[in-house]
Amino acid sequence: SDSDPLQDFCIGDLKASPSINGFPCKSAVSASDFFFSGLGGPLDTSNPNGVNVAPANVLTFPGLNTLGISMNNVELAPGGVNSPHLHPRATEVGTVIEGSVFVGFLTTNNTLFSKVLNAGEAFVIPRGLVHFQWNVGQVKARLITAFNSQLPGAVILPNTLFGSNPEIPNAVLTRAFRTDDTTVHNLKSKFAG
Ligand code: GLV
Ligand code: MN
Repeated sequence: SDSDPLQDFCIGDLKASPSINGFPCKSAVSASDFFFSGLGGPLDTSNPNGVNVAPANVLTFPGLNTLGISMNNVELAPGGVNSPHLHPRATEVGTVIEGSVFVGFLTTNNTLFSKVLNAGEAFVIPRGLVHFQWNVGQVKARLITAFNSQLPGAVILPNTLFGSNPEIPNAVLTRAFRTDDTTVHNLKSKFAG
């Protein structure tokens, strides 16, 4: 859903300051600007979530600048969870390459649509809706996702709410989650930084 380009391509000059929409065009262009090697994995999933996401967006693959499209390589350890998150600037479409993944998204009425997907199956997440993936198999799972934005952005709910800088006041979070200070403090300690 990015705006339409007005030229064949405009390889992003990441050293220049971002302009109103994306990056200025780089002047010297070569074949390598149109290719990217970072979607193969394997990725390190030894973290509390058991997930790792390698993006091919305008920041890692500047050839995407002005073209309104990007991808991710997502790997999940057995039991791993890609936390509930949303992309403010893009609809997401994805396919499972290996493993068995519970994919879900929530509507603005809090209806959950979900399914367990296996290799070769695909899903779509409408723009801006909260979604997650959970590896329900015994082995690692891998997905390739794609977006109609060169930089879809990701608002990862646990990190946004409990790991912001500066922090959201505890008074806000205890009220919002109808819980106590200890619980909020404990959650913040997991997401600080
Ligand atoms: C998965 O939801 C992703 O954003 O790549
Ligand atoms: Mn996503």
